[in-house]
Parts: sequence; C-alpha cells; structure tokens
Amino acid sequence: MIQLIHGDCLDKMRGIADASVDLTVTSPPYDNLRTYNGNNALWGEHVWREVIAELYRVTAEGGVVVWVVADATINGSETGTSFRQALHAMECGFRLHDTMIYHKANPVPNEIGKRYQASFEYMFVWSKGKPKSFNAILEPAKMYGKAKPIKSGRQFRQADGSMKASHGLKYNKPMKFRHNIFSYNLSGSKEHPATFPEPLACDHITSWSNEGDAVLDPFMGSGTTGKVAAQLGRKFIGIELDPEYFAIAEARIHGADGRSERADHAGAGDGASSDQQDETVRSGRRRKARVDAVDQRERA
Ligand SMILES: C[S@@+](CC[C@H](N)C(=O)[O-])C[C@H]1O[C@@H](n2cnc3c(N)ncnc32)[C@H](O)[C@@H]1O
Repeated sequence: MIQLIHGDCLDKMRGIADASVDLTVTSPPYDNLRTYNGNNALWGEHVWREVIAELYRVTAEGGVVVWVVADATINGSETGTSFRQALHAMECGFRLHDTMIYHKANPVPNEIGKRYQASFEYMFVWSKGKPKSFNAILEPAKMYGKAKPIKSGRQFRQADGSMKASHGLKYNKPMKFRHNIFSYNLSGSKEHPATFPEPLACDHITSWSNEGDAVLDPFMGSGTTGKVAAQLGRKFIGIELDPEYFAIAEARIHGADGRSERADHAGAGDGASSDQQDETVRSGRRRKARVDAVDQRERA
C-alpha cells in the first residue's frame, strides 16, 4: 500500500493511527538553508518539536526513526539545531539508539572561513524501546579465521587445588557489522535541491524493517524513501508540502513498483541511472539473504 499525501505533515500526521509505523526515514529542512519554493518560511523550532512528538505517537513499539540532518552556519557558528532535535526526541520518549554519520564521498567544494571542508551530515537513529528489527549490513572481516583469546569469567580447579580463570579461543567470523559511518557519492537532483542518495534509503530500510512493514517519510521531497520502500516491498506513507516536489515524488514512487514504468522515470531525482537504481535494490536483497544465512548458521 502506497499512500502519498500533499500537505503540511504536522496536520496530515494527525490522521495516522497511533503505533502504526515501523520505520521513518526522513530529512527535514535544515534550518533556513533552502527556501523550498518559498514553503520554508513557516519552518522553525515550534514545527520540528511537534513533528518529533507526532513521530513518537505514530511509531510502533520497537519501531525506528532515521532523522538525516545538518545545521546551517549563521554568523560563523553552526546553529546546533540537529543536537537540539536529537535531545528533544529523547524528551519525547525515544531512545537515541545510534548517532550515525552520512559521509559525503564527493562533497561540493566550499572553503569558507577558517574551517575544514564540510563533508558529513548526522543520521540520528531513534527507537521506541529496543529496535524490533535489525538486519545488519555485513562486510568481510579482515581478521577472519584468526583466533583471539577470550576470558569466560568461569573458574576451574587445578590439579593442585588452586582456581584458575578459563581462557578459551574465539575465532573471528568471516563477516562483521559495517561501521556506523556510511559513505555515499552524491549525484544531485536537478528537480529538488536537497535529496539524499537512494542507497542511503536502501541501507536504512533494509537494516531497520522487513518486507510488508510500514515506512513513513513526513518530509518526502522528491520521494527517495518512498521509491526505495516500494521497490523493497514495504508499505509507504509520504507527505510533502510543495505541489511541485509532490508531483515529482508521485511519478518516482508510482514508477517504482512496476519495472516498465520505472524505466520512464530513470534519472529523475538523484540522477542515478536505472541500472544503478536496480543494483541498489538488488544489493539490498542480496544483503538480506546473507544476513538470513548467517542467522540460520548461528541458530543451527
Ligand atoms: C530535505 S528535503 C527532503 C528531501 C528528500 N529526502 C529527498 O530525497 O527528496 C525536505 C522537504 O520537506 C518539505 N517540507 C518542509 N516543511 C514541510 C511540512 N511542514 N510538511 C511537509 N513537507 C515539508 C520541503 O518542501 C522539502 O521538499
């Protein structure tokens, strides 16, 4: 089920049932960095405080919110809004499950003032209780097969009667969890000024939800989360204030669950080719299969 809603998310989220959303992957306006066709004038602390409280209400127990954000720099100082949003989420009842980094592998060069090149954004992962789903992204472990000593904490009596702590050997597994800094190439969108990459949406959707789960994006923009959610077999609710961006999102998302239509919209949004988009989704599915296989081996 795909539900796309044109309007103010604060107003429209009130129509979403309590505890009905498994995962939100979203990126709100960053302070006043963009005008969004003139729609950003009403944006401010009073709005994000209420949106985050609403996110808490609609999130299911064990559900997760991924909030991708950065600060504007005003008079030489970052605003700190990102941190204030994370702390407010905790006040609303969320756990700050993880503070992850979205590293931009090819940032737009911007040497401004006495500061280093800005090349990352935050990806706050908030959860309502402990996350109920975690399909970890795995990568090959360099130390695979090497043994490391472990201390079990158990004591064993020696022949002379003395007690000695047991030391066993643990063998490193072939795969390990990916680090919490995710790196992506930016491809940019001609139609929307602030998209995030499809692989970012894919990585979070596969990590924190399962097929059939409900995914929300209250700041849908050009529909990146919705497009990938549809391709990965999730239900999706998207809300966008601006009519022009809403139309772009509609075209991308409704093209996403039918291959022939999808080809028509290839290149919209973040500029990825249809082959790259297909590969993003295929790699999400391969990853899920690998995680299931490791789970099964460990259960056996
Ligand atoms: C950072 S962009 C999201 C981009 C999106 N992640 C993508 O990949 O296309 C934020 C979006 O929120 C929208 N927006 C701002 N205030 C809103 C509100 N109150 N309700 C719904 N959408 C809003 C803006 O028009 C803008 O498109």
